[in-house]
Formats: sequence, C-alpha cells, structure tokens
Amino acid sequence: MPRIDSLLAEMTLGEKLGQLAMLSAGFSVTGPVLADNAEDSVRRGEAGSLLNVFGREATRRVQRIALEESRLKIPLLLGFDVVHGHRTLFPIPLGETASFDPALWERTARIAATEAAAEGVAITFAPMLDVARDPRWGRIAEGPGEDTLVASLFAEAKVRGFQGASLGAPGSVAAVVKHFVAYGAAVAGRDYASTDMSERTLREVYLPPFLAAVRVGAAGAMPAFSDLSGVPMTANGPLLDGWLRREAGFEGVVVSDYNAIAELVIHGVAADLAEAAALALNAGVDIDMMSDAYLKGLPTALERGLVTMEAIERAVRRVLGLKERLGLFDDPFRREADIAAGRDERRTAAREAARRSAVLLTHRDGLLPLKPHPQRIAMIGPLADAPTDMLGSWSGAGDAKEVVTFLAGLRAARLDCDIRHARGIGIDSEDEAGIEPALALAREADLVVLCLGESRDMSGEAASRSDLDLPGNQTNFARSVLDLGRPTVVLLAAGRPLAVPWLFERAGAVLATWFGGSEAGNGIADLLTGRASPGGRLPVTWPRSVGQVPIFFGERPSGRPASDAHYTSKYIDLSTAPLFPFGHGLTYGRFAYSGLKATPARAMAADTLVVEVELANQGPAAAEETIFLFARKRVARVARPLLELKGFTKLQLQPGETGRAVMLLPVEALRFLGPDLVSAVEPGDYDILVGPSADRTALLAARVEVTEA
Ligand code: IFM
Repeated sequence: MPRIDSLLAEMTLGEKLGQLAMLSAGFSVTGPVLADNAEDSVRRGEAGSLLNVFGREATRRVQRIALEESRLKIPLLLGFDVVHGHRTLFPIPLGETASFDPALWERTARIAATEAAAEGVAITFAPMLDVARDPRWGRIAEGPGEDTLVASLFAEAKVRGFQGASLGAPGSVAAVVKHFVAYGAAVAGRDYASTDMSERTLREVYLPPFLAAVRVGAAGAMPAFSDLSGVPMTANGPLLDGWLRREAGFEGVVVSDYNAIAELVIHGVAADLAEAAALALNAGVDIDMMSDAYLKGLPTALERGLVTMEAIERAVRRVLGLKERLGLFDDPFRREADIAAGRDERRTAAREAARRSAVLLTHRDGLLPLKPHPQRIAMIGPLADAPTDMLGSWSGAGDAKEVVTFLAGLRAARLDCDIRHARGIGIDSEDEAGIEPALALAREADLVVLCLGESRDMSGEAASRSDLDLPGNQTNFARSVLDLGRPTVVLLAAGRPLAVPWLFERAGAVLATWFGGSEAGNGIADLLTGRASPGGRLPVTWPRSVGQVPIFFGERPSGRPASDAHYTSKYIDLSTAPLFPFGHGLTYGRFAYSGLKATPARAMAADTLVVEVELANQGPAAAEETIFLFARKRVARVARPLLELKGFTKLQLQPGETGRAVMLLPVEALRFLGPDLVSAVEPGDYDILVGPSADRTALLAARVEVTEA
C-alpha cells in the first residue's frame, strides 16, 4: 500500500499515536457539541478518529479541520453508535431479533447505514453480538438474545447490512462487532462485572457469533470492558491476537471500548498508563477510545521497552488501511448523500420491523384483533404516549418528535371508536394522583389498552436491575385496572423480559412490544386492528421469577432432572419451568404440527438431512408460523445440551389451510467439541425435534443415525 508506506515514513511518533486515538467530540441534548480540545487534537494530528459527531454540518466541519489544518491531512474516521437505526429508529436489537427474519435484520441495518453514511459517519460500533441469558443485565436489550445460532445469523445479517457490497460504496459503514467476548455472562447480571467460564462454553456458545461476523468480513471488533477469568478483554492477547486474528482470520481493526485501556489499571493488571497501553497494544488493540493511554502512555512504554515501534506501526497500518478501504483518502465526503426522498420507504420498513418484532405472549377470549364495531377504548398507563422511550437505548440521532406512540398509532388507525387517554402514573414514580382519572376512563371503556413497562434508560449500558418487576407503582396501578374486570390488552414495553406472572394470568392479552422505534405505534396498531397477525417469537427464555436467572433452553441435563422426588434439580419454592419458553409467541392463527420426517434416517457426515413437517392452520385468521428445528444427542462422549437450535423457518397459512415446512440440515451442523475440545461429528443417534418453541413437551421428534464421522 504505497500511500500508507509513504505516510508512515513521514509521520512523527505523535502523529502515529494520533492515528490510534479516538476522541469523543461530546454531546448535548440538542445535538453534537464539538469540544474545543477535540478540534485542537485533530489540528495537531493527535486524533485520527472521533466518535459522537453526527449531522452533516458537524461531520464536515471536523473533517475539514483534519484535511485543511493538520500537517498530514489524513481524513478522520468518524464513528457513532448506530445500533438499531440512525434518524429512523428500528426496534431495539432484542426486539428485532424476535422477528426471526435475517432478511429484515439486514434490511434495517442497511437503512441505518444509509442514513448514517449520508451524514459522514464511516464506522458504527455495532452489531452487538453478546449472547445474554440473564435479563438482569441491561445490555440484553442491545443484542440478539440467548442463542448462539440466532446470534450468528444476526451477526452475518447485520454486518452485511451495515457494510453493503463494499466499504467504499455509498451507504456503507464499517461494522465494529462487540463486545468481544463473553460480556453477556457478567456475574450476577451486573454490567462491567467479571466473567468466568469453561473453554467449552466459550467456544461453543460465545465465540461462534464473532466467527460468523469475521467470515462475512466485519471491519472492526471491540473488546468487552469485562475480564474473562481474570484477563481483561482489552488486554487479552490469547483471544484478541490469538483466537480472533490468527484462528478466526480477522483482518480488521480492534477498537477499545470507552476508556477501557486506562481502566486496565483499575482492573489491577497494569501499574500505570504506560503498562496499560502496552498491554492493550500487545494484545492487538489498535484504537484507544477516549482513554489517552496510547497518546500519553505509549511513549513511556517505548522507552521502557514494553512495546516496539513495529507494534505501533502495525496498528497504524490497520487504521490507515481501514480509512483507505472506506475511500476516505480519495474523498472523505463521498458518503454524503441526499436521502430525503427515501424517507417514506424507511418509515415503512420501521413500521414493518416494529410490527414483526412484537410478541403476543398471552391471548384469551378472542380479544384481539379489536372488533370493528364502535367501542370506547381507554388507552392508559405510562407507556401509552411515551415517544422518547419508544426510541430505546442508543438512539442518539433519533428525534422523539418523529416517533409514533402507541396512542398516536391507534388513533391513526381510524377505528370507528372513541379513544381516550390518561397516563395514570409515571414509569418509575410513586405519585398516585393520576391513578383515579385513569381508572375512571377504564371503568367506562369497552376495552382497556394498558401500556406498562420500563423507561428506555432502565436497560442498555450500566442499567442492570436486581429485580424484574414493573418499576415504580405500576404493579398497584395495573392491579387496580385489572380489578375493574374490563377486557384488557396489555402492551408491555421493556428492554428485557419482566417476571410478572400475575399480569399474564389476569390480562386478556399481553403483547411484548420492546421499544419499537420511530414507528412503534403504527406497527402495534397494525396488530391490534388485525391488519396483520402477530408473528414475533421470544429470542430469550422468559422467567417467572428473578430467582430463576440465568435461564436458557440450552441447559445440559442434570443426573437428577426436576421431578416430584425431593433430591432433584429444582427449587423448593418455585417451578423450574420458565413463564414462556424461547421461541414462544402466539398468532391470530392456531397451528397444529404433524408428520415429522427426517431423511435419510441413516446418514453420513457429508449428507444433508431433509426435515419436513406438516402444519395446519386451525385458527380463525391467516398467520405466519415460525418453526424451530432442534437437535439433541442423547448419548455422547460429553453431555450435550437438552436442546440445540439448528434452524428455523416460516410458513404463512390461511385459516383452514395446511402446508409443509421443509428445512435442510447438513449433518456437519451436528458437530460439537469432544472431551478433548476437538470438533467432530460424533456417530450415533440424534433426536431431530421440531415445533413452535423450545418447550420440549410440544416438540415432535424423529431419530436419525449418523453412521460415519
Ligand atoms: O460502543 C459503545 C460501547 O458499546 C459501550 N461503551 C461506549 C461505546 C461507544 O459509545
């Protein structure tokens, strides 16, 4: 790369380190604020990248400073957390995962990239690929849930969507996959806490989504804040340089998390900034986000012989290489585009995403869809008209004024009925003054739509919770509403499953809406009015109590499975069963499964199984069913999980219609790590299980014998 060689030959040590520094240009509620010191750093060549600058004017301004006022005129890399949309917000990732539609996952990432790129953003810190099995952890909201296969498909779809056909193409941004690795396994569900796990679990559960991302060409990776078995990920050479670069073949740029390099001192693995910087650089971290450790610590580390100039230059080459691939040297403004014309299309996609992400958890008495005859609807509760909350976490460029709330969405549906609204109570407040007016509305209504849940800042980074209840006084409020005995549909907006079994027992229907983004209200109105049938499925197991977490379907069997006998693996005060299994989600149809076949019944490692199942829609409405395919090896050299997800597909059926779902399962996909941690397809019998969720009692089973490894 001649340009990079000649630049490197010209650069001072300070300028090299500048290319490795990413500074935050700051935020205010009204838009980006460019901190003077960030601009000065750019002028001095001491910042090769900035984060949190968005908006065409702001990005242009800093880019011009780099191009016109810095000595080497190297363009800036401008980064932003474009996690689930930029100006148009889509549902939070956990919600969007519930659509179980990789094509949708890719499409929304593409739209987000188009909007961000149009404003000069070149790199996003997304997708987040952390498998999460503990809903106390607030960041469960930002990722694809509990399952490794789902997370891997999510990784591929999102990286493809963000990066497009090439990084230099208009509408593409570089994807920094995060948080490498095992961040979601934080002890006690507490953000930033330590993680610890076996190499088997690491390799089988937490690493594969990152491998999937590398295979589709992810341009960047971000180490987790946390430590894994005592080694902070920011300094974890064996995993960053070893597994990620050498084993998985990652050729991109590693960007630290915010201030994470300096925090190596607090972790207790470095005595000072120089040691911290050396640990991170030698482990393979190229860009220092916001800690000043590289700028201030690496010169001392060089003097002390803790790092080499070669290692510094290797990192600089990677950063300049990324800038080159993004086309920044040729024209840093090339990503700017006028995309106003496509706004309607993007909003339509957001509406579809909101609709397809919602999960109908319970539904009684044919309450939904709302009947066409005139009704008086009371739309009450703190989330009924909460535009900012609908945006979810990481929505820095989103505008609450552009959000369609549940109330606005239902009103816009122009039902021939009277929709009244009262908030009743705040999300997290004890103030009871609004309760009585809301109850009065509910008392007079034919139908109550009760909108409950969390505020958007109760999930996401640094937002772990120790209980999974409704916040504030919502429990009392909801109980009082339900005591009125009116038909009640609950819209539950949250960044995690909430363990509220009483609510599900008492409400006529509960729809988990997550935080649905800009078009949340229209998407949900489509479902309430029957314009579409709900189709979302849970990407996480939904606990009945916080005492059950971590909870996930891929558990290994106990030698003493839970039963009525005393000495078995259970709680003495609670069922071990979740409230809703992974994959659960109702539709306005009702699907019966039969006739599962997996052929050939004797297969070799190179074969592909054809798995077929018959479905009949015995319900009153057309609907789309998501069909899950699991496998289990009952007898193996290492105990295998009770269920392993191997695929999913969808089938749309009219009422009374039958159809057949066909899924292909390469025998290769049954491979697992043996006792020696070597991966192989072990010969023997495999159960092939198919059904609507991970509820083992509802799965059809076929047996396949694998005869050859
Ligand atoms: O990308 C994020 C990361 O997920 C958490 N800490 C801050 C980073 C940059 O905003």
